[in-house]
Amino acid sequence: MNKTLIRMFFATLLVSCVLLLAVPRARTQNAVALSKAPTNAGDAPQPAELVYKNIQILKGTPADQLQPAMQFISNSLGVECEFCHVQGAFEKDDKKSKQTARKMIEMQLAINRDSFKGEREVTCFTCHRGSDRPVGIPIIADEEPKRPESPAASAAAPALPSGDQVIDKYIQAVGGADALQKNTSRVQKGTVNFGGRQFPVEVLSKAPNKRISTVHTPNGDNITAFDGHAGWLGNPGGRPPRDMNAQEVDAISFDAAFYLPTEIKKMFTQMRVRPAEKIGGHDVIQVIGIREGKPPVRLMFDKDSGLLLRTIRYAETPLGRNPTQVDYADYRADGGVKLPFQWTVARPLGRFTIQVTDIQQNVPIDDAKFAKPAAPSEQKPAAK
Ligand code: HEC
Ligand code: HEC
Repeated sequence: MNKTLIRMFFATLLVSCVLLLAVPRARTQNAVALSKAPTNAGDAPQPAELVYKNIQILKGTPADQLQPAMQFISNSLGVECEFCHVQGAFEKDDKKSKQTARKMIEMQLAINRDSFKGEREVTCFTCHRGSDRPVGIPIIADEEPKRPESPAASAAAPALPSGDQVIDKYIQAVGGADALQKNTSRVQKGTVNFGGRQFPVEVLSKAPNKRISTVHTPNGDNITAFDGHAGWLGNPGGRPPRDMNAQEVDAISFDAAFYLPTEIKKMFTQMRVRPAEKIGGHDVIQVIGIREGKPPVRLMFDKDSGLLLRTIRYAETPLGRNPTQVDYADYRADGGVKLPFQWTVARPLGRFTIQVTDIQQNVPIDDAKFAKPAAPSEQKPAAK
């Protein structure tokens, strides 16, 4: 794993599933401008061209959507930022690939406008599929391709349960709604593992929806927090914490739901049940949670145990959706409920796993623990 990737991971060793892989340099470079960006939901978002220096095609895109869009490009081509950018000077147009990318963005917009009624059907990934050079000639596989199942076989598939039934089974599997309510806070300690490296991690959570996770890296603490209303990210290396954007808040509010099993039904306006591929040898049933004006969430449950094995979530960007997959494993009983002691957060360009080794329930946690520290200029002497 090269240095940039490691840096990207430090920036995003998120116990939760914040979807943006932030890049410290880009952020530092734009820190001044970004801090002027409106933080109140009511304010009109600042367009990217006012915050960044050299925006030609993505004009009018909300500034906080630019980096997620860049992440989408990197994900689609399977490249890092440096494929198009000069380190530390993202506004420069020195690399030909950046100029090509501008034309490609225009092409994507044109294809969708002219051939798909303006719906975003074609994205960078449609052609690139994780490579900088798309392949135009069909590939000859090593083995005979599998023929699609005959209609007779699929007709014999057993009827699927309803979404409510799947969720009810999940609630029972973790111990039931009453057992869940008996715990109101939790402290989990363990290790985070990525690319063969390990760091200590701590997750504090409090009902109904507060959560802070801290990864202790050699460069300092990497923090992902939600105080019940707003989310923030703390960076190692003395850079000031920053507020999460709307997509990041959407992601962490899912992770922060202390009573997730009983919250799921309230999160979605509709739940569709679909079959899915096995996970780790377990038969799986999939619930697709539909929400008004937001991307869907996919939830995979163990058909036998009823436990949640995987979620796949999407962050909307101007160019396409960035996916994040979380696998839950090593379920153990503690405090009358079953909890995953291990989870793996995977994205197109990397993954990390958290293993909990120590857990305490119902320990008092002060609300102040979840609050974003004041900016240095406005900081009062800390009352600990
Ligand atoms: C395949 C090429 C490509 C990759 C990979 C890429 N970008 Fe970009 N980036 C662009 C293009 C093109 C623009 C200009 C967009 C425009 O003109 O509207 C841009 C603009 C930017 C800007 C605005 C700079 C300024 O001040 O004008 C930032 C910041 C940025 N990218 C960050 C990133 C980050 C961070 C990554 C890695 C996660 C990344 N980019 C990956 C092509 C790329
Ligand atoms: C309709 C298919 C299609 C879409 C959509 C598409 N590309 Fe491409 N792209 C290509 C093809 C084909 C090439 C290779 C051209 C060549 O080999 O000269 C290419 C080449 C590139 C290159 C040059 C790669 C290199 O190695 O120099 C970049 C950068 C690039 N695309 C970025 C993007 C980005 C960013 C998007 C999304 C905004 C995108 N492309 C969407 C088909 C597409």
